[in-house]
Order: sequence, then C-alpha cells, then structure tokens
Amino acid sequence: MIKNPIETILNIDNLSINYKVGDQYAKALNEISFSISKGERIGLVGESGCGKSTLLKTIMGVLPGNADILSGKIELNGKNLLEIDSEARRKTRWADISMITQSALNALNPVQRISDQICEAIKAHKNVTYSEAMARVEELFELVGVAKSRAREYPHQFSGGMRQRAIIAMALALSPQLVLADEPTTALDVIVQDQIFTQLKQLQKEMGFAMILVTHDLSLVVENCLKTIVMYGGQIVEFGPTDDMATNPLHPYTIGLKNAVPVLGSTKNPISIPGTPPNLMLAQKGCLFAARCPLATEKCRNEIPKLNLAADLHYARCHHLPEAQQFAAQADNPEIWEVN
Ligand SMILES: Nc1ncnc2c1ncn2[C@@H]1O[C@H](COP(=O)(O)OP(=O)(O)O)[C@@H](O)[C@H]1O
Ligand SMILES: [Mg+2]
Repeated sequence: MIKNPIETILNIDNLSINYKVGDQYAKALNEISFSISKGERIGLVGESGCGKSTLLKTIMGVLPGNADILSGKIELNGKNLLEIDSEARRKTRWADISMITQSALNALNPVQRISDQICEAIKAHKNVTYSEAMARVEELFELVGVAKSRAREYPHQFSGGMRQRAIIAMALALSPQLVLADEPTTALDVIVQDQIFTQLKQLQKEMGFAMILVTHDLSLVVENCLKTIVMYGGQIVEFGPTDDMATNPLHPYTIGLKNAVPVLGSTKNPISIPGTPPNLMLAQKGCLFAARCPLATEKCRNEIPKLNLAADLHYARCHHLPEAQQFAAQADNPEIWEVN
C-alpha cells in the first residue's frame, strides 16, 4: 500500500489473527494492511463481530491468551511491535499508544479515586513524584472539560459523559502518538456524544496524536474522519478517503451499509442487508460477502478477491468493481438485496 515514510507513524502489514475456541479456530483478522499518518483520524466501521476490537487490541498489545498472531507486522515509527520484548512492549502502552474503551465503567476501578488511577498510570511510566503526577491529572481534567476539583472523586460520583472524559484524560496522560478509540461514545446520548467528539478533535489539534475511531455508526465517521476502513468477516473490504467513499462507495457491503443509515430529511426507509456475517470458524473459500451479495457470481464463490486500488488512494476487495456505480444507483431498493 502507498505510504509516505516520513509521515507514517503506524504501518500494519499482512496481519492475521486466530482465536482458539475449544479445538477449533476463529479467523478473526485476515491479512490486514493499512497505515496511519501523524495526526490523522481514521474511522473503522463494520458489523458486530467483524474484528474491529481485535484489531485495536492487537495494536495495543492486549490480546487475550487464546489469540494467536499468525503473520504480519505492526510497525510504530518503523519498529515492529511484534518483535520487541514484553518490557519494551509494556513501555509503548499508554506512552506511545493508548486506548479509550467502549465501556468507561469497565475501564475504571470503582473503589479507587479517579485521580489515583490516573496518577498510577503516569507513575508506571515516568519518574515523577505524586504531587507532580497529581498536577498533571488536574491539567488533564481541565483539558477534557471536567472541573479539576472533581478529580479526587470515585467513578460512581460521575455521570456517564464525565466518566468517558476521565477515560480520555487517562488515555492522553502521557501524550501518546496514537489513540485507539473503541466505540468511545456508544453508551452516551447523542448530545453528550457530540460534545465529546468536539473536544476530542480539539485535543487532537492541540496535541497532534493520530486516532483510529471504531464505531458501528457510519455517520460519526463521515463527520469526524478523513479516511475510512470498512471491515467484513475479519478482512478490510474497503479503505479510502471518507468523502470519496461516501459519494462513491465501491464494495457492495459498503453500499449496503450506507443504505442502512437513516438520513435526516429523507423519506426513504433505511434498509439493512439481509443475512448474517460469515462464520469465522469455517475455512474460507471465495469472497466472504458472496452469500449476501446481489452481484455475486461463481467467481466470487470460489476466488478470494484482493484488496485492489480502484481510485485515488481508494481500495476495495471485490471482483465486480466496474459494476459498483450502477449497483449503488439501485441499492436503495430492498428487493435488490433479496439474494436467495
Ligand atoms: N476472546 C475471544 N475468544 C474467541 N473468540 C473471540 C474472542 N474475542 C472475539 N472473538 C471472536 O472474534 C471475532 C471478532 O470479534 P471482535 O474483534 O470483538 O469484533 P467487533 O469488535 O467488530 O465486534 C468474533 O467472531 C468474536 O466472536
Ligand atoms: Mg468491538
């Protein structure tokens, strides 16, 4: 994939992951390749179970014990994180790469003051005194929009939105270069979600970190990210500039996802793609989306499509790229999607 070696901070190449489940394997990530530049914001979308969280956990280095990395590279500033020892890896967590998780409730310890939790994270990486760490915590609270006088409270004394801001404060404590946000606002109402995104974007502008934003909400990505990755069944099926993907989606799955989003002011009903995502335990033959795809042919059922460059910086994994535009024009008709 095309990358600018000066600007690229994270480069992922051919990454594949299996989960061991009993005596079987689930192919959770399948030949993932992409890169992210300094200060860039990339959206990562796809149905539940397609591997979004697994990808972030792999980058962060917090995969569960039953996960196996089969192949690939994760290069941070040119250094492969899969080849460094566990102590060096521990040092990259939070300091270079940090994560904002789905549920602020799980990420915070309910019986410890929030300030102490963030102080501990700082002191685990930096040789500072408690009062120096505490000064940083107060600074961070102001940055994320929570009064510093509240830093010594416990998680249960905070609203959902404030807890999420505290998590963001923790993620930014050591000024990382890359922030991985896994559905950071899913549990919050739309207004709070909006405020938090505005704040995150502001912080990103000031601090310059890059961010991967995982969400199942396509409209969040369109509003917030210049580039988008679409995943399906553990693979990247489309990757490119968000603008281009919004106006000219190329993969039938992306086209379907777009139609599944309610559009403000539109009289059309959103339509969801019939069928279910692929079973990752089964051996893969052909395109993983073929069973649900109105364009699928024998070739699709037998030959795995490659992620091909289809337009400027815009990649898609489909045997029928020349038909994408014509299909997109009809894809708001639910009958088109009745494949079987
Ligand atoms: N610890 C685990 N053990 C076994 N399978 C897992 C584990 N975590 C996730 N999976 C499976 O891996 C696939 C990807 O999961 P996940 O990365 O959580 O997807 P997403 O975040 O897109 O919903 C799913 O099929 C899921 O069931
Ligand atoms: Mg997830």
